[in-house]
Amino acid sequence: MVSAGRLGALTVLAAALAAATASAQPVTIDIVPRPLTVQSAPGAVWLRNGAAIVVPSRDAGARGAARWLSALALQSRGLRLTPRFAPVPGRTAIVLERIAGPAESEAYSIDIGRDRIIIRSPSEHGLLYGVVTLWQLMTTDGAKGPVRLANLHIEDQPRFAWRGMLLDSARHFQSPAFIERLIDWMALHKLNVLQWHLTDDQGWRLPITGYPKLTAIGAWRVPATVKDSASNAPARSYGGYYSRTQIRAIIAHAQARNVTIVPEIEMPGHALSALLAYPELSAGPVPPRTMQSDWGLIPAAFGVDEPVFRFLSDVLGQVMDLFPSRFIAIGGDEIPLPIWKASPAVQARMKGLGIADETALQNYFIRRIDTILAKRGRRMIGWEEILQGGPLPADAAITSWRGAASAVSAAQGGHDVVLGIAPTLYFDNRQGERPSEPPGRGWVVSLRDVYALDPGAPPLPPPLPPAPTGQAPAAGLGAAAPAPLARFSAAESAHIIGVQGNLWTEHIRTEARLAKMAFPRAAAVAEAAWTPQAERDWPNFVARLPAEIARYAPLGLDEDDSALAVEAKTGPEGPAGAQVTLSSQAGYGQIRYSLDGQPLGASSKLYRGALHLTLPARLRAASFVGARRLSPILDETLSAASVRTRLSQQLTLCPGTLPLVLEGPPDRTGSRPAFLVQIMNSCWIWPANDLSDVGAVQLEVMAAPFNLQLGAE
Ligand code: ACM
Repeated sequence: MVSAGRLGALTVLAAALAAATASAQPVTIDIVPRPLTVQSAPGAVWLRNGAAIVVPSRDAGARGAARWLSALALQSRGLRLTPRFAPVPGRTAIVLERIAGPAESEAYSIDIGRDRIIIRSPSEHGLLYGVVTLWQLMTTDGAKGPVRLANLHIEDQPRFAWRGMLLDSARHFQSPAFIERLIDWMALHKLNVLQWHLTDDQGWRLPITGYPKLTAIGAWRVPATVKDSASNAPARSYGGYYSRTQIRAIIAHAQARNVTIVPEIEMPGHALSALLAYPELSAGPVPPRTMQSDWGLIPAAFGVDEPVFRFLSDVLGQVMDLFPSRFIAIGGDEIPLPIWKASPAVQARMKGLGIADETALQNYFIRRIDTILAKRGRRMIGWEEILQGGPLPADAAITSWRGAASAVSAAQGGHDVVLGIAPTLYFDNRQGERPSEPPGRGWVVSLRDVYALDPGAPPLPPPLPPAPTGQAPAAGLGAAAPAPLARFSAAESAHIIGVQGNLWTEHIRTEARLAKMAFPRAAAVAEAAWTPQAERDWPNFVARLPAEIARYAPLGLDEDDSALAVEAKTGPEGPAGAQVTLSSQAGYGQIRYSLDGQPLGASSKLYRGALHLTLPARLRAASFVGARRLSPILDETLSAASVRTRLSQQLTLCPGTLPLVLEGPPDRTGSRPAFLVQIMNSCWIWPANDLSDVGAVQLEVMAAPFNLQLGAE
């Protein structure tokens, strides 16, 4: 891990360059996350095929950064840049230069001018980030071929040391190739921690020598879906695990991109996969006898006797052999204490140890685990529940997820905190209301919602989002008033070490959907974690967003388009008419539309207010800034039937706290329709629907699998 705030080298550098930039002007450039300072100067430099990336001959880190820049320039711009040890006379040079300073610094500067681009940093991480910023400068116009770069001076460094994403590979399994792509995409946003959730109730994803059943049994389950009763086909096995060779390759790839992989091994709850493999480690009889494809709170937990700690010591020892990360994540969330209460063996051990209750026993358990890690110089990080039941060594860190109250109390207690607050940073929530959104949890967490999070003043109670589909907040949900914000003293602030977007995968079966759930929201996390709060505002971010999103396609990243896409809300208006309102989530740019099959372009009609159409009608719409189209083209044929139809995602949900977008089984066409449902209160509302001339209502219904257990419920 790298600490922020080491300004020494950068300050010296700034002084040295002050004369050169005396006439410079502060400017905004289309870079995400926004750099600390950017100043422009007159003139420009051209980068053409054959430009050299000049690296010191004995600097392997700089060589790695140069190779990546060369690959990115080719991929994104079709431009050939060649790493060399010396400039080529007459050609523009990109010079990577090490300066004095702390090796773990992530700061860098860029100077563009006098036919050169110089990236300076004390560290290979900083050089890498300078390269990322240069690649963004080279790709701002979305064009191919030679590029003209205006003379600039940039100084940049991160606000937080932990700029993270969590990837849940336990609930659904992703290929090593996808994980390496995700790491690249993260690094291109200057995100630097991947918390890799490798074990949970539904899967154990890494081999541990001496315990072959962890992967032989714990890595496999039936797929989470409704049974295909028509074919009566036997359930296929779903799962997999990563070999040591694959894990080492992923770690090496991440290291080259300044991404630290923090492995997460869940305990004492969320451990059914291990307990089914080795039932003797369980606190009680393991209630399900086979691997589950249910999510939620599974009533199973490790016991607390010595064989359990020997097992966990073996597992964590091998995890520490594989993963060089200083932090090791141990889960610790949602511990099913009733299992410990009901277990005679656990109760006997608790009494023998003189421990008063199960919460104090939890603290004993977590302290034992901390000792295992501390012996090897590693630091524990767990979900906020690990602070319950008694003190922990000061260097134990938490991830706050149920609102920021735990962040405040942890920081007051001297513990470092990563903010991973639900629902804002739970990226399994959908990010828009359109039925085309991937399945997931049902709260709408828009790009703007994520961007609004200030890690220095996060919301205190669980920040409940607006109820799904724009309904009035349900009584008791507390969503009416904005949540009060946590305030930290200077000493407490120093304990907020970062922010993390969490890609839980219960409902995210495929890599393509995972990419959409992650991006562009990860760009908002990146800016919250990198850029000082005073330099952040939504209008500025959203103006930089189109250029950022245009960089994704050449990388093979197919992001979610909710923020900029145009959405049409339609309703009947008389027997043969419809009223149509158009909007986009971000409200950026101008919406243009065409009717009846006319092509759509930058000179199409400007949308100024509700349209009144005669049916049937073909509507096309998109948002534009000038001639640049920002969104995909909405293309809908509206009929008398379609304006009188609502899908579940377009209805208002009745009150409840567990909205999910669930997939049904394949229909006749083989596709799996998704439904928004409040699973503890399955009811939908179509507000303000005039029923006066309605003679019949047609419902289409389908069984959708909840796949959920909630402890005793
Ligand atoms: C969690 O969502 N149980 C950390």
